[in-house]
Amino acid sequence: MIAPAPGVAKSCRYGSHRVLEPAGALPQSAWRLDNTPAAKENEILCSVESLSIDSASFRQMREAANGDARAIGETILETVRTRGKQHNPITGSGGMFVGRVADVGAQLLDACEVRVGDRIASLVSLTLTPLALERIRGVDMATSRVDVDGHAILFACAHFARLPEDMPTNVALAVLDVAGAPAQVRRLTAAGSTVVVIGADGKSGLLACAQARERVGSEGRVIGIAPDASSRGATLLRTLGLVDDFIEADARDAASLLGVLPERIPELADLVVNCVNVPGTELASILCARDEGTVYFFSMCTSFTAAALGAEGVGKDVTMIVGNGFTKGHAELALDTLRARRPLLDYFTEIYGATA
Ligand SMILES: NC(=O)c1ccc[n+]([C@@H]2O[C@H](COP(=O)([O-])OP(=O)(O)OC[C@H]3O[C@@H](n4cnc5c(N)ncnc54)[C@H](OP(=O)(O)O)[C@@H]3O)[C@@H](O)[C@H]2O)c1
Repeated sequence: MIAPAPGVAKSCRYGSHRVLEPAGALPQSAWRLDNTPAAKENEILCSVESLSIDSASFRQMREAANGDARAIGETILETVRTRGKQHNPITGSGGMFVGRVADVGAQLLDACEVRVGDRIASLVSLTLTPLALERIRGVDMATSRVDVDGHAILFACAHFARLPEDMPTNVALAVLDVAGAPAQVRRLTAAGSTVVVIGADGKSGLLACAQARERVGSEGRVIGIAPDASSRGATLLRTLGLVDDFIEADARDAASLLGVLPERIPELADLVVNCVNVPGTELASILCARDEGTVYFFSMCTSFTAAALGAEGVGKDVTMIVGNGFTKGHAELALDTLRARRPLLDYFTEIYGATA
């Protein structure tokens, strides 16, 4: 194991003792971590089965690799070799993992709720998780899941969830990856309000629509936006009544979307939820919101400057919220969102539940 930099505590609850460079950084912002697969006194060592690669990161790697699964696997191996973690240097995003607890450090034995052998999902980003990969067993192009053999370290501050027994592991992995979205949408949505979800037919978008629909009630409206209104996700949203309207639009084309707003969303949205996996959709999100409305940017492609200057440029007084991946109780709420809607659970099982 590599010695921590001078001046760094041997066992920091936030994991600074694993930072190799630059000195003084915490693991998320560090360039490189020590990924030695052995638990220190305040760490949990896990054997890793699968990674759920963040959608923005996976899309970037897929485009760079011209859709070649093997090349994506090589990119991941190279990133982890170089950085000691799956932290995409271009998008800055990561994902999360599922695996089995292999060792619990002495300091955590009493306080910790897990025991060696338990299967868990990490609820912290791979961008701060020391990871060592032995090999990649498969890359699922449809769901951005990557099956691996490897080991990861969780720090004392890390959140994780025991895998539920009533749904397939890969479904739980997919849902827990985006658990922050439905939980925040539930918190931000008021009865009778209008909610717009951009990227509505993706993983987080579907869960966000489900929560928004429940919260707005019969007086409110939920409107989904995505590039293909005939996709399976969009069709499911309409069939289940989780949206009141679905607008087929490319949210990078703000001018075109602006053109349809007077007819489709004349009241404009109290809350806009951005769940896309491409850059350049900040302005469209802001334009969908009413004056003094709220825009919740869950997307990892969000640019602070584009959002801040975009809102200023169009004179919109909106509250903009960064999509914190963690919300208290978010894991259970996300899983319950599926449990309470059997057809949605069936859809997730069909799309995400298969093994590679
Ligand atoms: N804040 C956090 O903690 C956190 C955690 C996890 C993930 N994320 C981020 O959340 C976002 C969504 O993740 P996800 O797993 O739900 O992704 P996903 O399942 O891949 O869904 C992405 C959605 O965006 C839509 N989309 C793509 N291009 C679009 C465009 N030009 N205009 C409108 N919609 C567009 C997609 O439609 P098509 O399928 O038709 O392309 C799809 O509906 C990603 O950026 C991801 O990185 C954030």
